[in-house]
Amino acid sequence: MKSLILFFFTVVFISFIGCEDKQTPTETIPPVDSSKIFREVFTSPEQCASCHPKHFGEWQISMHAYAFKDPVFHALDSIGQIRSNGRLNQFCIECHTPPGSLGGETPLGYNRNAVSEVAAHGISCDVCHSMGSMSPGKDIPHFRTDKVKQGSIKDPKENSFHASVYDARYETSEICRPCHNVTTQNRIAVEETFNEWKNSIYPARPVSCQECHMHYTQAPAAIGGEMRRVHEHKMIGVDIPLTEFPGREETIKAVDSLLRFSSKYSVDTPDSVKRSSFFRVKATVYNSTTGHNLPSGTIYERQMWVELIAIDKQSGDTVYTSGLLDPNGDLRNHNSDFVQKGIMAKDNDITLFNGTAKRHNEETPFFWEADAVENRTIPPFESRSGLYSVPSLQKSGTIIIKSRLLFRALPPYLLRKIGHEELVQKLVIFTMDSTIKEITVY
Ligand code: HEC
Ligand code: HEC
Ligand code: HEC
Ligand code: HEC
Ligand code: HEC
Repeated sequence: MKSLILFFFTVVFISFIGCEDKQTPTETIPPVDSSKIFREVFTSPEQCASCHPKHFGEWQISMHAYAFKDPVFHALDSIGQIRSNGRLNQFCIECHTPPGSLGGETPLGYNRNAVSEVAAHGISCDVCHSMGSMSPGKDIPHFRTDKVKQGSIKDPKENSFHASVYDARYETSEICRPCHNVTTQNRIAVEETFNEWKNSIYPARPVSCQECHMHYTQAPAAIGGEMRRVHEHKMIGVDIPLTEFPGREETIKAVDSLLRFSSKYSVDTPDSVKRSSFFRVKATVYNSTTGHNLPSGTIYERQMWVELIAIDKQSGDTVYTSGLLDPNGDLRNHNSDFVQKGIMAKDNDITLFNGTAKRHNEETPFFWEADAVENRTIPPFESRSGLYSVPSLQKSGTIIIKSRLLFRALPPYLLRKIGHEELVQKLVIFTMDSTIKEITVY
């Protein structure tokens, strides 16, 4: 991606010289400071708010606005710079805040509390609405420097602040591609939301990212404008802010509905079983309505798992469990402190849909160092199951199988590892679905 930055600079450099040439003799051209140009190209979203209050209000609570406020991002980026001796450099930053990176505000060792308002706003309005061309195979676009705003309105009304142009890309997933596929400096594809969508049946339908993440309503696109199709800019996914940030409660509710809508969950059991035996339970998740894998993106952090509890109805005793948490809130697998210290037994049956980044065959939380990736996510219109061998009762009676499909954006052990234990209490576990079954024991 370093080559891309150089490429932006070259493009701007050339056009800048071209422009200077008309007035100044060549020998007196001052050195071009492309960061200065970019500091002028990107406007703070507050400046859009007076005419686009609806768009601003929605964007303000989005993960795009959070992208460079996110303490988890900053912790991982800092760890990455130390571990790589600075080789990571702008790699993470140029995607989480193109204005900061292109504006030259984030050299190695920069102070993140000292960056400008525009840089702190991460994926701001201008980042999406000033995208220039995208070279095939490249991860990040060039940005236009003429302050023209591009969008999906074919006949935009004129205004005093900016020129507008229609650009068909804004109605398609192409506009999301540059950032929603992440390939590391070692050329390992670590996030593939766009590719997963592209390889599914959705492009043929055609169903774009916007269809699910930017619902439209009829409203003015700007103060005083006519009624039009305007698109929601909250762009809800699965993540919620863990810091002081507007709209947390609203985002939690919206994530809850999106996750409930995403898939179908079912649990198969026999109707009756013999006593003193084992029987099989199968928990299945079908990706019925998600336009890419479930989960997707930063799958090394996401946790979607099955919680299963078998209870003797008469006595109320628990006869079997899987997917329960340890006192730290972690799943009882190899990442649990309690399992590592031998205080709790390891849950060998956990059904967990996520990804593991590996380096030299060892799991690493630092996904940018991966040389291989294990993917346990569920592609569109496919299902994956967890199998359980559950003990029956010693005498006849009834067993109740309670189960839930659960989701959280981040696991507590990761927050502890990166020095943010205080954020663990802010995590939310979403119940995507639940089932209860009764089995007769004869
Ligand atoms: C002085 C008022 C004003 C300000 C400030 C303003 N806009 Fe606009 N903008 C408008 C109007 C008016 C339209 C046209 C709306 C219509 O035709 O319905 C528009 C249209 C747009 C469009 C649609 C273009 C298209 O053809 O699809 C985008 C995108 C846009 N503005 C982005 C921004 C961004 C980003 C900012 C802040 C950097 C901003 N605007 C600031 C008034 C403004
Ligand atoms: C058919 C509906 C649909 C389409 C199309 C769709 N999404 Fe999603 N998206 C969802 C649902 C449902 C979720 C929540 C489940 C999940 O995390 O996978 C989601 C989650 C996400 C997440 C969070 C993923 C995670 O687990 O961390 C991102 C990022 C995302 N979508 C981006 C995109 C992009 C980019 C596109 C287009 C390339 C797209 N989506 C297309 C429905 C859709
Ligand atoms: C992550 C990318 C992204 C960001 C950030 C973003 N937009 Fe948009 N915006 C879009 C896309 C894509 C569309 C077109 C959706 C479509 O037509 O399907 C759009 C459409 C618009 C439109 C045209 C009317 C409409 O709703 O379709 C306006 C005006 C607009 N955006 C203003 C803004 C403003 C103001 C901000 C910041 C407060 C902003 N956008 C931030 C991607 C973005
Ligand atoms: C310039 C890069 C960029 C572009 C373009 C972009 N995104 Fe994003 N998007 C991000 C980043 C970075 C995040 C994660 C921010 C964070 O949580 O730290 C994100 C987060 C999201 C999320 C929330 C994910 C979650 O787990 O909650 C959704 C949904 C999403 N983007 C959809 C879209 C869609 C749809 C488009 C195209 C219209 C788009 N994005 C265009 C960079 C981008
Ligand atoms: C090409 C663009 C791109 C690059 C480069 C990139 N990211 Fe992201 N990042 C994204 C997108 C898009 C998402 C949203 C995906 C999702 O929600 O599943 C995201 C999400 C995240 C999240 C999840 C937010 C949360 O709190 O749950 C973290 C943390 C993160 N990135 C850290 C990093 C780090 C560290 C690097 C560098 C090693 C990096 N990113 C490089 C685009 C990028």
